[in-house]
Formats: sequence, C-alpha cells, structure tokens
Amino acid sequence: MENTPLSLVDRSAWQSLKTHFETISKSHLRELFANDPERGTRLSAEAVGIFLDYSKNRIDAKTLELLLQLAKESKLRERMDAMFSGEKINTTENRAVLHVALRAPKTASILVDGQDVIPGVHEVLDKMASFCERIRSKAWSGHTGKPIKNLVNIGIGGSDLGPVMAYEALRHYSDRSLTFRFVSNIDGTDFAEAVLDLDPAETLFIVSSKTFTTLETMTNAHTARAWLLQGLGGDESAVAKHFVAVSTNAKEVSKFGIDTANMFGFWDWVGGRYSMDSAIGLSTMLAIGPDNFRAMLQGFHEMDEHFRSAPFESNLPVLMGLLALWYSNFFEASTVAVLPYEQYLKRFPAYLQQLTMESNGKHVTLDGAVVGYQTGAIYWGEPGTNGQHSFYQLIHQGTRLIPCDFIAFNQPLNQVGRHHDILLANVFAQAEALAFGKTSDEVKAEGTPDWLVPHRVFEGNRPSNLLLIDELTPNTLGKLVALYEHSVFTQGVIWNIDSFDQWGVELGKVLANRIVPELEGQDEPNLAHDSSTNNLIRRYRRAKQSA
Ligand code: F6P
Repeated sequence: MENTPLSLVDRSAWQSLKTHFETISKSHLRELFANDPERGTRLSAEAVGIFLDYSKNRIDAKTLELLLQLAKESKLRERMDAMFSGEKINTTENRAVLHVALRAPKTASILVDGQDVIPGVHEVLDKMASFCERIRSKAWSGHTGKPIKNLVNIGIGGSDLGPVMAYEALRHYSDRSLTFRFVSNIDGTDFAEAVLDLDPAETLFIVSSKTFTTLETMTNAHTARAWLLQGLGGDESAVAKHFVAVSTNAKEVSKFGIDTANMFGFWDWVGGRYSMDSAIGLSTMLAIGPDNFRAMLQGFHEMDEHFRSAPFESNLPVLMGLLALWYSNFFEASTVAVLPYEQYLKRFPAYLQQLTMESNGKHVTLDGAVVGYQTGAIYWGEPGTNGQHSFYQLIHQGTRLIPCDFIAFNQPLNQVGRHHDILLANVFAQAEALAFGKTSDEVKAEGTPDWLVPHRVFEGNRPSNLLLIDELTPNTLGKLVALYEHSVFTQGVIWNIDSFDQWGVELGKVLANRIVPELEGQDEPNLAHDSSTNNLIRRYRRAKQSA
C-alpha cells in the first residue's frame, strides 16, 4: 500500500540516525554551545504563546534534519490528516480518534460514518453549561431543598485523572464556595475520606465512566448511593437530585437509576485518556464556569491548528515527539521526567502518565508484528522545586540518562514576595546545571581536596526541554495538554503502533473478577491458580476469618 511506511528500522532516516548517533553521542553540550553562540536562541520555537527552548538537547543541525526526515518517511502528515478527518485510525477497536472534534468550533464539520459530529459536541457543551449555571447559581436544590455545595466526581483512569489534574491546575479560577472531591480507587478509604465531612443533603455525585461498567467506578457509585440514601432517610427519589452521569452508555446509566435527562454524553471516538475536554470535564466546568471551560477548549483548538498546519521544523508537538523518540530509541533512555515549576500543576505528571504510557506502551505494530525497538517511555515527575530536594540528585549525578521537560510560567498566580523570581531562578538553574555540569578543574579551583573532587563533579550533558508560558490560565492549560497529546501521537505514528487502544489493562481486570468470589465465598474455594497466587489467597482468607 502506498501509504504504509517501511518498517521503522528499514527507513533510510532511521539508518542514518543510527550512524549519526555514533558521532553526536560523543559531543558534549558544552562544545555544542561553545561552537554556536546563537544555539540558545536558534534551537527554540514559539507558537500559540508557548515558547519551547530545546537547545539543551544532545542534537545538532544534522540530528534535527534526520529526525524531521524520519517524521516524513513515517507518513506523519498523512496520519495527522487521517486523524483530523475522522478516519478510523484506532484499528484494533475500529474507531475514529477525534478528541480534536471536542474543541472544534461550531462552524467546523467532521464526519464519522457520514455523520457530522460537531453539532452533537456543541449540544452537549450547551447542556453542560446550563447544568453548571444551575448548580453555581444555587438554583438546583437537593432532595431536602438545600442547595448543592459539594461535588464528588466518581471515575477512574481517564474519567478521573483529567478532571483531578484540571481542577488542581485551575483552582485559582474556581468557585471557592463549592467543594470538590474525587473518588477513584476501589480501596474503600478513598470514598470514606472523600465524604467524611460532607452533608448528603448538599452533595451531588457525578458518576463519570465512558463504559459505565468499570468495576471501581460502579462499586464506588453504588456505595455513594447507599451513603446518600442512608443520610437522607432512604427515599429512592433522592437519587435523581443527587446523581448525574457522564457516559456513552445510556442503557447502563438508566439501569443504575440515573435519569438520562441528567446524563451528559460523549462518543466512542473519544478515548478515556483524551476525554478531559468532553463531558468528562463536567467537574472542571462546575469549578471554573462555562466561560473559562470554553477558553480552555479554545486553547486546545489553537494547539490542534498549530499541529495540523505548522511545518514540522517549527511544530511544537512534532519537535517534542521527535526529541522524546531520539532519547528512547538511540540513547536508550527509559524515562522522561516532567517537572512543572508551578504548584497548581502538581497532578500534571500523574495525568501525563496515563496519556503517554497507556497510549504508547505497546509491543506490536499496527499489523501485529512484534516491534524491534523500544516504544513509550516511562513518564514521571513532581513539581519543582520540591523534586530538587529528593530525586534530582540521580538526574544530576546518577548513571542513567533522564531527559527532562521543565515547565514554567512568567506570571505567578499568587504574587507572594520574591517567591516567583526565586522559583524561576531555580528552573533556569536546573536546566543549566544539567546541561553544563561542573568539571573537575572547576571543582579543584574551588579548593576542594583531591579525594573529594570526583564526588563533586557534575558531568553535565544531561538533556532538557524548557517550556516557558506567560501564565497558567484555562486557555494555556488547554494548549499544554494538546501539546503533549500530539507529541504522543507523533511518537506513536513513527513507532507504527496503535496509540489509542489499551488492551494491556484487560487481563488484570479479568483475573481480579475471577479472584473476588474466591476471597468472599463461605466455602473453601477450589483454587487453580499458580502456587504463589493460591498461597496468597489462602493467607488472606485465613486472616479474614481470624479478624
Ligand atoms: O484502565 C483502562 C481504562 O479503560 C482507561 O482507558 C479508562 O480511562 C478507564 O479505564 C476508565 O474507563 P471508564 O471511563 O469506561 O470507566
């Protein structure tokens, strides 16, 4: 087929990158900077208000040229067009991949199976907005007539991580008269602690689940229902005033007892980890209001348009995707650290973990052949400066190469004394220290005794990107998330994998469902697992019996 690229390792750019790596991997960022005084400004790109400094990466002009050639040989442009036009690029689930439609303007038109999906998107957004206005203006009363003050989102994975991250990220813009809680874990502690100080008469649950069958979410939703009814005297009609659903599965929603008039829908072409800007963002809209939510969607859309139209050499998601792949496949770096110097982004690394690892943690290509190269890296991180006092030691002086993405904002959302200048000084300093390090001559010149010198040397040559954005707003958050979404896509296209399925989560779910009755049954079960699992089950049963 004309559109099928050669196998990755046979592409000519890949072969050239392999040879090129042998040279460039021996260069130090100190030399690369010394030889090119303009490097720090030249190797940067800016679009839609996001400035990316990628000069502190272990690349030169040739590396970039070859990586961009690899993107072309991998048919990135064609795959982008296929995604944006609603083709069913999630082949293993036979689905279109259209999170970009969630933030497209009313005037757009995107067809799936001959049907324009855009009017439906805006219908749901309008329905969400009018519900949010009713809650925020206290027009919606609970069963006893009290207004709703507490919103509890019940969901897991993409139905939790996006809402939690966005709530924390945009807390500055949120209605502080409302309390938000998020329950995801099957561990009963999550639910118990979330509702501990809440009055059921003032509490509304948002049950968020694409499928409305996820074990954790449905168990938590039933527990919430029982908690509510117990608190409100057992009248079943209370459920209608205290539960709404976000789902694609109307049948299961009404089976649970939620009126489908209070259901906010989305579609099978929205992947869970790509859904924070769909109705799954209902808690976000409740917190920040419909106008701010629309500003966030506008931010997503601006980044989508940049991704779709900018030439690859100045395309932020393409550049970031290619750099991530360069370290994964050539330097064999297994992880990427994401280090936001913004306290409100404290859940951003956790959010990115699902986005990146559920998308690109794949071991076969689209046609089912085992890949002969590494795919998705492990993403992790914490906000700066906290991480500096824990794991940065390993990044600076450990034996592993850990590419870092630093994220910083020019304007603080809370202007407190000198804090912001000190925060920004730290993020710039960390990127500088990682790249340039400190030589033994420099250490000696400080009067360090010889025996201590090796311990105080920083090799440097540790790569990083720095994203500098003016201010954290709903709009810039949308841009930032879309930047990573499309960077993940870029990598997935080059690896020729399905970035939109998640079969890897199935086996554990099936096995857990099999084990539940073996833990709960009165009679000693006839166990047929391996000897380790059998032993663990027996020990747990004995502990339960003697408790
Ligand atoms: O863990 C797998 C997964 O399917 C994720 O992809 C998804 O975000 C999460 O479970 C929750 O699924 P649902 O929204 O259907 O409850």
